Amino acid sequence: MTDAALATSQQTPLAREVERRRTFAIISHPDAGKTTLTEKLLMFGGAIQLAGQVKAKGERRRTRSDWMNIERERGISVVTSVMTFEYRDCVFNLLDTPGHEDFSEDTYRTLTAVDSAVMVIDAAKGIEERTRKLFEVCRLRDIPIVTFVNKMDRESRDPFEILDEIESTLALDVAPLTWPIGRGRDFAGTFELKTGRIRLVDGGGETAGEGLEAIKDLVSEHRLVEVSEELELAQGALKGFEMDSFREGHLTPVLFGSALRNFGVRDLLDTLADLAPSPQGLDSDKRPVKPEEPRMTAFVFKVQANMDPNHRDRIAFVRLCSGKLTRGMKVKQTRTQKTIGLHAPQFFFAQDRALAEEAYAGDVVGVPNHGALRIGDTLTEGEDIAFLGVPSFAPEILRRVRLEDAMKAKKLKSALQELAEEGVVQVFRPFDGSPALVGVVGALQLDVLTGRLAAEYGLDVGFEQSQYSIARWINAPTKQALEEFLAANRSSLAEDLDGDPVLLAGSAFQMSRAKERWEKIEFTDVKDHR
Ligand code: G4P
Repeated sequence: MTDAALATSQQTPLAREVERRRTFAIISHPDAGKTTLTEKLLMFGGAIQLAGQVKAKGERRRTRSDWMNIERERGISVVTSVMTFEYRDCVFNLLDTPGHEDFSEDTYRTLTAVDSAVMVIDAAKGIEERTRKLFEVCRLRDIPIVTFVNKMDRESRDPFEILDEIESTLALDVAPLTWPIGRGRDFAGTFELKTGRIRLVDGGGETAGEGLEAIKDLVSEHRLVEVSEELELAQGALKGFEMDSFREGHLTPVLFGSALRNFGVRDLLDTLADLAPSPQGLDSDKRPVKPEEPRMTAFVFKVQANMDPNHRDRIAFVRLCSGKLTRGMKVKQTRTQKTIGLHAPQFFFAQDRALAEEAYAGDVVGVPNHGALRIGDTLTEGEDIAFLGVPSFAPEILRRVRLEDAMKAKKLKSALQELAEEGVVQVFRPFDGSPALVGVVGALQLDVLTGRLAAEYGLDVGFEQSQYSIARWINAPTKQALEEFLAANRSSLAEDLDGDPVLLAGSAFQMSRAKERWEKIEFTDVKDHR
């Protein structure tokens, strides 16, 4: 028996299940090819028969829900969902992140629930704004990243230049695993740098032989010289792949391909299966939790209203961190100490949902509920722990909600509470009793709020500028220091959904004045849910 086989045979069944999980997200700038690649990954994973189904499903779904008109009008996907499929002996959970340009909290929270990410880059455009932003979030947790340089079948930049740009703009080492043979109209396939194996676009991505010999007949003498020089340069000048650096988030393996032409997709799946990490341990407030521990633990990273607006139930997306979930089991919600029965946990596939009879660390299940489960909640089999790291971000826009019908103020209050619990917006209630402010990170969230208040609660609202534009959470070294600060600043304070105080300021200047005056207090723009 080989060492690896021996190690596998000595694993518990639970550890074996954990080890075959790959939970990841795709980060990219709009138009780089995320939807196309998602579709192709699902196709290669056998989850869908025909490419085109992901979008088709989106269309069907959209017609079902009123508030998602916003999404249809703008032609964007506001919803984060999860898709599970198998490839080789691995179970992949692909967490979809919204594709629109606005900064979205959902996207960021989704990235707290993955173990790796695929960064899709348009070969003609290189690193674009949103990719860079999302990359920064991945870096906060040192998430390992596999890079897929897409659209090689189109006019594209020099591969060396693209790699340089990744290194210099993201401060991330690159290790190409494949190298493109030609570009644009001449893109013929790729060369696997380690083995010399060649795959051709026209060969359906199957191995066509090894070494340049294999393409001798396909390209002119002149091009062959060019290709071989480029390969030599690539092999000589570039770093080799190092597992440790990759796992620590310092180095990205790079693949070249064309999602549209199904090329490089299998390489990507193989790379994820071979190199991407299975679920890792996670810190809780009391102790680190290991994925192969027998007892189930999980956290909620997203809550989504049911597609059917007539039933106000919601799906909480729950990422398992350890152990095994069995349908029907009872779990403790540690924030409230309540017991919740998991009667209908669900898996999501490309076209269907199905009851999850069992799930393991790394899996994401949807748990239908009526508002009991909140973003950041920890679920356990009884232990009192809370996972760290599902953040709220300080809003970049603060508005007062103007209600057309003043008689409905009470209804508005409870609607805002419910939508804030779902993470659609944040709500801040000023200490001085003035009307609540809503805070959003991207303007699109305000449109979603308006749409949902109208469709689901029958409330017509508009928004007014507020005197405040900045909100920051407050960390004080001692309780006394906090109380002193609160007592001295009551007129500029509000509380968030959890009752935590925030300081409101009208300008960056005001905020920096507060910082100067209250040196020991830390003002933060990210809050961890506990
Ligand atoms: P996104 O989700 O990242 O926004 O990108 P999406 O997959 O929707 O792709 C954006 C456009 O780029 C689409 O064209 C898509 O067909 C095209 N595309 C994606 N991958 C490749 C590729 O490898 N090569 C080439 N040449 N094109 C690619 P579109 O015309 O905007 O949309 P559609 O009408 O084709 O759906």
